[in-house]
Amino acid sequence: MRPLLDAAARDEDEHIARNGPLPWQHTPGALIAALAEAGLAGRGGANFPTWRKLARTSVADRPVVIANAAEGEPASHKDKVLLQRCPHLVLDGLQLAAEAVGARRVYLYGAVVPQRKSDRYPITCVEAPDTFTAGESSAVMAAVNGRKPLPTNDRRDDMLVQNVETLARIAQIARYGPRWFRRHDTFLATVSGAVQRPGVYEVERGVAVQRLLDLAGGVGTKAVLIGGYHGTWLRPHETIADPGAGVAIALPNNESGLRKTAEIVGYLASQSTRRCGPCRFGLPALAEALSARRWNQVRQLVGLVDGRGACHHPDGTARLVRSALAVFEEESR
Ligand SMILES: Cc1cc2nc3c(=O)[nH]c(=O)nc-3n(C[C@H](O)[C@H](O)[C@H](O)COP(=O)(O)O)c2cc1C
Ligand code: SF4
Repeated sequence: MRPLLDAAARDEDEHIARNGPLPWQHTPGALIAALAEAGLAGRGGANFPTWRKLARTSVADRPVVIANAAEGEPASHKDKVLLQRCPHLVLDGLQLAAEAVGARRVYLYGAVVPQRKSDRYPITCVEAPDTFTAGESSAVMAAVNGRKPLPTNDRRDDMLVQNVETLARIAQIARYGPRWFRRHDTFLATVSGAVQRPGVYEVERGVAVQRLLDLAGGVGTKAVLIGGYHGTWLRPHETIADPGAGVAIALPNNESGLRKTAEIVGYLASQSTRRCGPCRFGLPALAEALSARRWNQVRQLVGLVDGRGACHHPDGTARLVRSALAVFEEESR
């Protein structure tokens, strides 16, 4: 079952022939109610209920809607693949989100698309730099306001940032309804690492990790990092309750999970914007403690950085390390 990838159509006329015209909702609140009933959760990493974000933005004065195609996760390609294969579903979702909240301006961040004849809300495309934090929502808001795309602790209710996959799902829910969606609730997964066929796959939410490995030709792995660099390590028999940003990195059997985690934390430390204490001091110290196998210090630092930054970068890093300590416990003895 691949409800999203099988709806692919690059050309607008082909898209309309295959998926039908853009289903404007007309009635205020109709889309938000449908999203609540569908149970759609965001696909940019946070897994947050989409209807709540739209409801909050819809009461703001002439808000701004932004499609987030930054895809700063190095191991993620699903947003690029989606925009290549189904650009019109993403754009339909963006138009429908704009209608639902009464948008004043609409942006696409991190990709370029041509205007379409069916669009009521003109889209301004804004470039995104290729950094890990440029896709964080407050960095995205800064970018469309002409500032540097750096995360801040600015949380604004008059700006709606949605991942491009979330928008494509909105377009499908508007067309086929919440009940259809509940039966077709899949996610796009970028699978890499110890597999023969790395790439983007579409699978049902709640699947076992092993199913992803089977699809991509797993070659033997003891754990898979699910969600992205802010995600969690899972064993192949476990199920994926929260797909995060849809990343799945299969650890080769001969590799150390804690060493791989140390490498990722080193990268995450290098990608922070170094403006808050936990990122500036905590993440480099955490990467070093992991590499030096000083587990007590690792545990202490994880507790110190968690929840103490302006954005969720330290929290995501803490989550990753906690799961590594649990799943690779035998390595830390
Ligand atoms: C450090 C950091 C980087 C992020 N990068 C991205 C990104 O590249 N693309 C994305 O869609 N969301 C990214 N997010 C999540 C966004 O902040 C935001 O939750 C998301 O775009 C909202 O869309 P959604 O509700 O549709 O998932 C990032 C979050 C953090 C903390
Ligand atoms: S928590 Fe880290 S990444 Fe986020 S704003 Fe502060 S320094 Fe930058």
